[in-house]
Amino acid sequence: MTAKANDTPALLRDAAERAVNYLDQLGSRAVAPLPEAVEALRGFEEPFPEGPCDPREALKKLDELGSPATMGMAGPRFFGFVIGGALPATVASNWLATAWDQNTGLYLPTPGTATLEAVALGWMIELFELPRGTAGGFVTGATVANFTALAAARHAVLHKAGWNVEADGLFGAPPITVVVGEEVHPTLTKSLGLLGLGRKRVVKVPVDGQGRMRADRLPALDGPAIVCAQAGNLNTGAFDPMPEIVASAHAAGAWVHVDGAFGMWAAAAPSRAHLVAGMAGADSWATDAHKWLNVPYDSGLAFVRDGDALRASMAITAEYLPTETPFRNPSDHTPELSRRGRGVDVWMALRTLGRSGLAEMLERCCRHARRFEEGLRGAGFEILNEVVLNQVLVSFGDPAATLRAVAAIQQEGTCWCGSTVWQGKTAMRISCCSWATTDEDVEKSLEVIVRAGRGAMAER
Ligand SMILES: Cc1ncc(COP(=O)(O)O)c(C=O)c1O
Repeated sequence: MTAKANDTPALLRDAAERAVNYLDQLGSRAVAPLPEAVEALRGFEEPFPEGPCDPREALKKLDELGSPATMGMAGPRFFGFVIGGALPATVASNWLATAWDQNTGLYLPTPGTATLEAVALGWMIELFELPRGTAGGFVTGATVANFTALAAARHAVLHKAGWNVEADGLFGAPPITVVVGEEVHPTLTKSLGLLGLGRKRVVKVPVDGQGRMRADRLPALDGPAIVCAQAGNLNTGAFDPMPEIVASAHAAGAWVHVDGAFGMWAAAAPSRAHLVAGMAGADSWATDAHKWLNVPYDSGLAFVRDGDALRASMAITAEYLPTETPFRNPSDHTPELSRRGRGVDVWMALRTLGRSGLAEMLERCCRHARRFEEGLRGAGFEILNEVVLNQVLVSFGDPAATLRAVAAIQQEGTCWCGSTVWQGKTAMRISCCSWATTDEDVEKSLEVIVRAGRGAMAER
């Protein structure tokens, strides 16, 4: 049976009710899915249906099998992977925008979503204090944001050397020196590989004990060059020294790109804005809205000071496409042509939080990180990083005890944190990114973490 047109309201209301129920119980269920819920996913493994079924039946199955098998990433006590939840306002805007089903590649057919993106971009440029006239694109995440911004960088540095990389590729092109810190995020190196610049063909600059690039060890540059700095190390939350990097790179005529997947948002938190000082002097920036802005996936942002460089690397024309436009064409700034109007969620987050609401959310996360640091240090555990932002690295003694503690915490279910290795030391990483986390959630989680840590150390 297929859905009749008049079934649509009932179906969508059913979906909304199920989603509301799901979100309602997130705070009281185990954060990680229980083994039996994962086991029950086998219920999805059925033969490809020969014909249609009632969508409400399929939705019921989706909810009954799918919902319990989710990780509680939208809930208040998920502290993994430096990702936030989705603000309820942005879930609502996302639902509405999904109903609109706008293919937001071009302005003329989709003026509504294209306008919202342009407005949201303008607000963010103001918020991050980026240069006037900076261009930007809404992409899937920081990986593609890095890729997009670095494509503009590749265009610009080769254009300056008299080479048209879009037309002629990299065969025979003047070589580009690419500089990264030892702590570069692997997705940035992946972007370099996708751009033909090579994952390994980079100059790596040593870092300090927090993962910050040592500006005094930057290489002398000559000819086409791109320097990739980082705002927010995924383990420590530390920031590369932007003023020194920008000054040194620009003196040599190099392009400076900043990977600020989550750290760039520090610009909007008054007590942390000093961390991004000098960042606006760069030439391009990448960040995620699905991390600290707390909008639904997938939502990355690329910003490029020289909008012409971005458009030169991204824009296309075709006879069948209305690419001529009186207004900003979204797809002139992104690798994709067809895509959802993901800027709607960003607009909604910024529209509903406002400057002060955003600052409060970010500051709250930083305060939570400080409380974790204080509570864990107080309990006798070693904190491996300077807690400058929203990241806490804790060791429970030797690597085996630390991994035992992480496993116990994940299994207990009150909260979820992941493990990492920081400069040779195994650690548990606590990332405070979610709008939903309260002081009470932090206290509840601390209690469990301390108990698990002590248990794991006693087992040695
Ligand atoms: C510094 C940095 N860059 C890039 C990324 C990749 O982001 P995404 O997973 O949204 O592509 C991350 C993810 O944590 C990150 O921390």
